[in-house]
Amino acid sequence: MENTKKWAGEKAAEYVENGMVVGLGTGSTVRFFVERLGERASEEGLAFTGVTTSFATQKLAESLGLAIADISEIDKIDLTVDGADEIDPQLNGIKGGGGALLMEKIVATHSVKNVWIAGEDKLSARLGTLFKLPVEVVKYGSENLFRAFVADGFQPAWRLTDSTNADIGAVVSADKRLTTDQGHFIIDLHFEYGISDTDSLAQKLSQTVGIVEHGLFLGICNEVIVGKADGTVEILTRK
Ligand code: A5P
Repeated sequence: MENTKKWAGEKAAEYVENGMVVGLGTGSTVRFFVERLGERASEEGLAFTGVTTSFATQKLAESLGLAIADISEIDKIDLTVDGADEIDPQLNGIKGGGGALLMEKIVATHSVKNVWIAGEDKLSARLGTLFKLPVEVVKYGSENLFRAFVADGFQPAWRLTDSTNADIGAVVSADKRLTTDQGHFIIDLHFEYGISDTDSLAQKLSQTVGIVEHGLFLGICNEVIVGKADGTVEILTRK
């Protein structure tokens, strides 16, 4: 699957033009995109301003000598390229497997165009069937939220410091939980048969006090570059 990620990431690097402000997503697929941009910068003098979605991507971009701006200095991002954990036929998705969903959604929201890059294994008929849904929560009162998720039948599991999940429903001490770049915890929700109504779930989660953001990215992505096992890339466009 590494190759499918590489093909998608390198294709997306062709979209970047001189003078653009570019949102740089997070994850192993984005790494190929950013590395290719680093090559283009040194080979052709490509010059753009990057806005990063995690400390990890910031570190990578800086190591390649790419120019980075803080999002607070930027009014409009021309293009953001990011990975995804699961993508449905309407180009809605689940993100946050790398713990960066909050910063990713903020950057996506300020972007004129959002392109996702993924191997074909991320395509899914119904969100939630391939991947758990990450929810980023304020630390204070997070155990109460966790218990509320249990009561709702959402089968929550704490994200751990090594980025794996604790068992569904298991109590985990705070020091064993992952803290995100913005200082929150992540609880992953498991929907055994997928999410039947993504809009109403997104609305419910957005209205729950203590949830900072959820990993449902609905109506955000304009285009997906899919790396396929046969070595081709397919472009899916939002209708
Ligand atoms: C980061 O929190 C995520 O949203 C990533 O963009 C997503 O997990 C895709 O990562 P990979 O490219 O590593 O699969």
